[in-house]
Amino acid sequence: MKITQLIARQILDSRGYPTLEAELTLSNETAGRAAIPGGTSAGRHEAVELRDEGEAYFGQAVTKAVNNVKTTLAQALIGKEFDQTTLDQTLIELDGTDNKGRLGANAILSVSLAFAWAASRAESKPLYHYIGDLYGNAKFVLPRPMFNIMNGGKHANWATDIQEYMVIPIKAATWAEKQRVGVEIYHALYKLLKTKKYSTNVGYEGGFAPQLESNEEALELMIQAITTAGYAVATEVAIGLDPAASEFYNSETKRYQLKRDQKTLTSEQMVRWTVDLTQKYPLISLEDMLAEDDWAGWTSLTEQLGGTTQIVGDDLLTTNTKLIKQAITQKACNSLLVKLNQIGTLTETLQAMKLAQNAGWTNVVSHRSGETEDVTIAHLAVGTGCGQIKTGAPSRSERTAKYNELTRIAEKLEPTV
Ligand code: PGA
Ligand code: ZN
Repeated sequence: MKITQLIARQILDSRGYPTLEAELTLSNETAGRAAIPGGTSAGRHEAVELRDEGEAYFGQAVTKAVNNVKTTLAQALIGKEFDQTTLDQTLIELDGTDNKGRLGANAILSVSLAFAWAASRAESKPLYHYIGDLYGNAKFVLPRPMFNIMNGGKHANWATDIQEYMVIPIKAATWAEKQRVGVEIYHALYKLLKTKKYSTNVGYEGGFAPQLESNEEALELMIQAITTAGYAVATEVAIGLDPAASEFYNSETKRYQLKRDQKTLTSEQMVRWTVDLTQKYPLISLEDMLAEDDWAGWTSLTEQLGGTTQIVGDDLLTTNTKLIKQAITQKACNSLLVKLNQIGTLTETLQAMKLAQNAGWTNVVSHRSGETEDVTIAHLAVGTGCGQIKTGAPSRSERTAKYNELTRIAEKLEPTV
């Protein structure tokens, strides 16, 4: 099918930053739309998010990226026939750089995903099914959610040094039950914080963000919330962390600065602290526990915990096959955090996931701290059958949009009657 129309516009993300949305129409009149998320604690090796850097919106406007879709890409694509692979390859070639710095990964991804939505409709398939076909997967499963119920770091004015504290339902069987577990613990935590006269304001990803005495205090609060919600710690509900450690790592002194704990740690000490935490708390998933430059630390952590714990690379890998290959060789982690806009096309994202899967790793599909009502990632998780998604607390509509889409998908895949 030919592309007959391609337009783009500047919209807003959940942080109030401009972002880009594209709409693409095919010759049979089916259309697709996609909006691009944005990171706050972004990795250094991510594909380029093109921003205007002018006065408007304090430099954050994306009109250059919008114009790249409306002019360069529209001129090159309209009237031509593509499938997902040839479209994404054409987008990569039209940009011509390694990091999508000419046209912008935001511009390129908006077209890649708008096409995927349109093409799935042309094939009368749900998007997850279309993605499953591309990935070579026919086993569609609802993912296990990781609810980020306490926020810190750059996402919440450094309430804690650790950016994300997640509860993970590990026993609940159905999507509906898994969601219920996360939501009940979220509300139990709200009550607990109120009783303790802590702030119940939330951070970028919807998790509570009280200023705490230490990073561990958040873990203690979570354990209490899990218990008061009526769930068994460790056997029914476990915990995951994403400190986004690059944000408190000084690459000159090679030290981790944990301000809440008044500690400055070497890489070895950071690994030891992490191992100690896993002995005290039911931590089953550890993302970016170390900085993106600290490869030796990653290898050491994986050697010590990789047999029992999911060690997830986000800023370390940036959904980039070159870095994933390096991490496989160096045994630096055992799981890939998947973010479409870190790499910039659907095809390259699926290649990254396949590479990780073939290495025996797990994949975790992820939102960004700056999100929109776009629900593509819900379909990416189901379509690839990867089994895990992290898309925030059950709060703020840009987060619940994904949970609600998974509920709609579950109606088809997990019918109750
Ligand atoms: P970001 O954070 O979207 O701000 O990069 C999310 C994460 O680190 O997983
Ligand atoms: Zn992360």
